[in-house]
Amino acid sequence: MEPRIVTLHDSQFSTYLSEEEIIARIQILADQINQDYEGKNPLFLAVLNGSFMFAADLLKRVTVPCEIAFVRLSSYQNMQSTGKVKEVLGLVDDIKSRHVIILEDIVDTGHTLKGLEQQLLEKEPASLEVAALLVKPECLQHPLELKYIAKNIPNDFVVGYGLDYNGIGRNLRDIYKIVS
Ligand code: IMP
Ligand code: MG
Repeated sequence: MEPRIVTLHDSQFSTYLSEEEIIARIQILADQINQDYEGKNPLFLAVLNGSFMFAADLLKRVTVPCEIAFVRLSSYQNMQSTGKVKEVLGLVDDIKSRHVIILEDIVDTGHTLKGLEQQLLEKEPASLEVAALLVKPECLQHPLELKYIAKNIPNDFVVGYGLDYNGIGRNLRDIYKIVS
């Protein structure tokens, strides 16, 4: 299929992962989670804003009883990680002794996730795992254990399907990558 181009702010982005492929990969994650969390009533913690579409499409395919909560924690400005870890906002649920699965849109350096994991572990969950839609393995700066990954991607800036470029592009159904 011909690539489609979108312009967001000052940059052009070209189709990279179709909605269909994204959903197929999410179904595989859901199948794994359904096997691994039978009888465990997992608590999904979706990291806003970026993971809202991923969380919705994954949860529709989770068939074991489960709960979901949403937290905010942003350390990204423009196209580069700032490396500053912020506090977890909005966590009202008690996660002590719960089986927690963090839902992240994308793991780049891993700063965000490392900070989040540290703060959550202090609350003594029964277990803590991560489900990430996208991971940029070349960029990882921390030895993180990422149990559920929909797709590993190269170090290109991507938008769409929840991911933004300076606030816009989250509503795109497919994932686009920057045209270099
Ligand atoms: P990290 O702390 O460097 O791992 O960055 C993680 C966060 O940065 C993600 O949760 C996203 O919000 C954002 N981010 C990283 N890479 C991209 C990208 O390619 N497009 C859009 N947002 C990104
Ligand atoms: Mg994010």
